[in-house]
Amino acid sequence: MSHSPLSSLRFKRLLLTGAAGNLGQVLRPRLKAYCDVLRVSDIQSLGSAAAGEEVQVLDLADASGVKALLEGVDAVVHLGGVSTEQPWAPILAGNIMGVVNLYEAARLNKTRRIIFASSNHATGFYRQDEVIGTSAPPKPDGFYGLSKAFGEDVAEMYWHRWGIETVSLRIGSSFPEPRDRRMLSTWLSYDDLERLVVASLTAPIVKHSVIYGMSDNRGSFWDNTGARHIGYRPQDSSEPFRAAVEARQPHIDITDPAAIYQGGGFVKMAPHGE
Ligand SMILES: NC(=O)c1ccc[n+]([C@@H]2O[C@H](COP(=O)([O-])OP(=O)(O)OC[C@H]3O[C@@H](n4cnc5c(N)ncnc54)[C@H](O)[C@@H]3O)[C@@H](O)[C@H]2O)c1
Repeated sequence: MSHSPLSSLRFKRLLLTGAAGNLGQVLRPRLKAYCDVLRVSDIQSLGSAAAGEEVQVLDLADASGVKALLEGVDAVVHLGGVSTEQPWAPILAGNIMGVVNLYEAARLNKTRRIIFASSNHATGFYRQDEVIGTSAPPKPDGFYGLSKAFGEDVAEMYWHRWGIETVSLRIGSSFPEPRDRRMLSTWLSYDDLERLVVASLTAPIVKHSVIYGMSDNRGSFWDNTGARHIGYRPQDSSEPFRAAVEARQPHIDITDPAAIYQGGGFVKMAPHGE
């Protein structure tokens, strides 16, 4: 969907990693409005470059490739990496080596700001009947959540040591619509995702900030008060989908760990994604 930009601020060159993924495909056409050149990257094919785009296919584990990827880049929207619970090897490559390679490349290329797609699974072992804020320490619910907690620590280190700013987005569930009862709490609409990313890119000072990526849902496990300085104001809500979701899933087993913990089904996935 194309609409008028949410900010008049423009970057010379923005980098979008993970551009072939679900959220990358959503943001690729939308981020063009905020930059002169949008550089898109992924390990998978990205098609040909549209007007105003540069395309680079590479593995985030390739340090020299990532260093070249950041050349001339003012800010990064970093979505690339493993996005589900997986064996350790791909998570090590994409999310551990990948994030260190990205920040090292940012340091060497003097890139100023990174928007890091963290995840609610970094705090998946908090309970669904507690509300946590943006300073809640990680309680990862698997290798995937652990890698996102690591990414947040990398961001914290590069802020203090090198002055590179990051907004770590602990994204809830960003899909066309909420699919189950948990997602009525965790849903982030695509329009709100754009609002969140643009606010994170354009807020004057963010240092290293953490914010939960959610729409204005009626029930939520998260309180973003500590991140008001980012200026994100969600406009959507899961409420219009409630009746359909509750009709599909009228009962919840409150003894099921997937219903007890914020990470939902991720908290009981077999080790190593087996
Ligand atoms: N969609 C959500 O609801 C959600 C929730 C929480 C966090 N996130 C995070 O947001 C980001 C985007 O999510 P998504 O749903 O679009 O995931 P996705 O899996 O569709 O996209 C991730 C992209 O990263 C690429 N990638 C994986 N390993 C790579 C590597 N080693 N080198 C280069 N590229 C690599 C993949 O090819 C893929 O295109 C991810 O970092 C994910 O962890 C998403």
